[in-house]
Amino acid sequence: MSEFIEDIKRTDYCGTLGLADLGREIVLMGWVHRRRDHGGIIFIDLRDRAGLVQVVINPQEGDDPAKSIRGEFVLALEGSVRKRPPGMENPDMTTGEIEIEVKKFQILNEAKTTPFMLEDSTDTAESIRLQYRYLDLRRSDIQKNLIFRSKVAAAVRNYFHNRDFIEVETPFLTKSTPEGARDYLVPSRVNQGMFYALPQSPQLFKQLLMVSGFDRYYQIVRCFRDEDLRADRQPEFTQIDVEMSFINENDIITVMEGLFVQLFRDCLGREIAAPFPRITYREAMERYGKDNPDTRFGLHLFPLTDILGDCDFKLFQEVIARGGIIKALMVGDGSAFSRKDLDDLKDFVAPYGAKGLAWARVVAGGWTSPVAKFLKAAEIEAINRRVGAADGSLIFFLADTQAVVNASLGNLRLHLAKKLNLIRKDDFSFTWVTEFPLMEYSETEKRFMSTHHPFTSPYMEDLPYLMTDPARVRARAYDLVLNGSEIGGGSIRIHRQETQAKIFEALGLTKAEVESKFGFFLEALQFGTPPHGGIAFGLDRMIMIMTGVESIRDVIAFPKTQKATCLLTGAPSRVSLEQMMELSLKVVQ
Ligand code: AMO
Ligand code: AMP
Repeated sequence: MSEFIEDIKRTDYCGTLGLADLGREIVLMGWVHRRRDHGGIIFIDLRDRAGLVQVVINPQEGDDPAKSIRGEFVLALEGSVRKRPPGMENPDMTTGEIEIEVKKFQILNEAKTTPFMLEDSTDTAESIRLQYRYLDLRRSDIQKNLIFRSKVAAAVRNYFHNRDFIEVETPFLTKSTPEGARDYLVPSRVNQGMFYALPQSPQLFKQLLMVSGFDRYYQIVRCFRDEDLRADRQPEFTQIDVEMSFINENDIITVMEGLFVQLFRDCLGREIAAPFPRITYREAMERYGKDNPDTRFGLHLFPLTDILGDCDFKLFQEVIARGGIIKALMVGDGSAFSRKDLDDLKDFVAPYGAKGLAWARVVAGGWTSPVAKFLKAAEIEAINRRVGAADGSLIFFLADTQAVVNASLGNLRLHLAKKLNLIRKDDFSFTWVTEFPLMEYSETEKRFMSTHHPFTSPYMEDLPYLMTDPARVRARAYDLVLNGSEIGGGSIRIHRQETQAKIFEALGLTKAEVESKFGFFLEALQFGTPPHGGIAFGLDRMIMIMTGVESIRDVIAFPKTQKATCLLTGAPSRVSLEQMMELSLKVVQ
């Protein structure tokens, strides 16, 4: 007697069968998704990674094992494909026109009752789904995301391989690579009291590979950052990491645009237009209030400080006198906003530091507005002209520090776009943001810190301001933004040791600190470093946007919670005293 698996091999995946297979003898293996008993005949929706198909078993009188089949049992079966009887078709199933008449089957394994129903869209608490992630991963919507992710990763490798890039693996047990987050540390047993840092990115190694002459490097690589988590951040995540020698910004941007054109074509069947628009950091902040602008819709911000420079509104005067700014946002048709809506928007901007939000409705060329009485007719007219307002338009404006105005109106812009349905779900809008400031002042650290990382090249013409006015120095850095999400960032690097040393000095690092952190790297720069630059993309974020899911956890097989825990394995966890002793570690609490 022939046995499934030993002699009888699977011929098809469940979800791929259809009318074209009518009459075929097939062998399937899969899980019991649903089981129904109809007048002694057993109908099973059998599931595998390709989908579901209905199989029909006609059990014998007595205790036929078919009667013991329950949800999530693993079955092997042999049968033939037949058309479902008229009226029994299921248009919701891709295999809904056919069914399998089972001739022989075997229960390969039984299953306990699962803690939640394995439906496509589920309202089961995420904590339960993550605790039983291996069951959650049986659901087709999560499986689809991971299969898509695999397809994208393959297309990425293909693209770079075809362009003479070399994939090189870099170490995980290494020294700190600064990308602005905290390091995950790993204690060394062999070198007591010493720690490795898990890489926040392979930044230093990929630059060293350029020193070595690899010329074009890429890697799909895990990175580790101990930072506050959000919907689009994980403590370990994957980068598509790239570095090239003898190039400038345009060369990198062109290769990367080619990558995205190819990925969208191969993986989504979508043609996207390249080159992508580029705007400077300054323009992005001015027009969108953010350095990761969502460019799927307009609704730009307009500067009003010049127009209101000597208006009679005391509040505005004070803000301007303190070095603040005034900016506006205009909604063409404001009829959807009630007086209460307008008041509620004040609460929306409050968390960003705004102390109020002024508004004006344009009626017959004039304004209905709580602040109209403070402004002169010429000012009102100039504002209307600046923002392009017409009768029925609604103008919002805010006076405060530059940071508060940009954060408040930048987020209000996104909020209004959602409310007004300005965002088309299937739109993909790419923008390069360039000329970031090299350094930003950190209020917490009370010193200037690198906006990206300290290996980013400044524009040489800005170098004279390095010590006197650091905020004015622009970096040769670029971010790629897709639908308002930063999916990648990179820069032209410093390839001369003297410049690198100057930057460390401007960052306030002492010679001793530099030596202990990056001495090996500065030394390497002295042995013939080619001009080089690169970029890294967040693969998880790319997949989120390409699949349209809201949570980064839905595109990662075994993700961590917002508290950086793994509910499946229970990591992180305490370790035994022996292990601690071996590492000469002691927990101080
Ligand atoms: P950067 O720090 O901008 O650059 O990281 C590159 C991209 O990685 C993604 N990303 C994340 N995704 C998920 N979870 C996180 N915690 C997370 N942090 C970052 C983002 C980001 O744009 N070495 C440089 C690149 C270079 O200069 O070549 C770097 O790591 O999409
Ligand atoms: P008040 O005189 O405080 O009632 O403010 C008059 C209007 O100005 C109200 O509509 C407030 O919401 C608005 N307002 C208050 N502070 C600001 C600000 N910083 N920028 C813009 N409008 C403001």
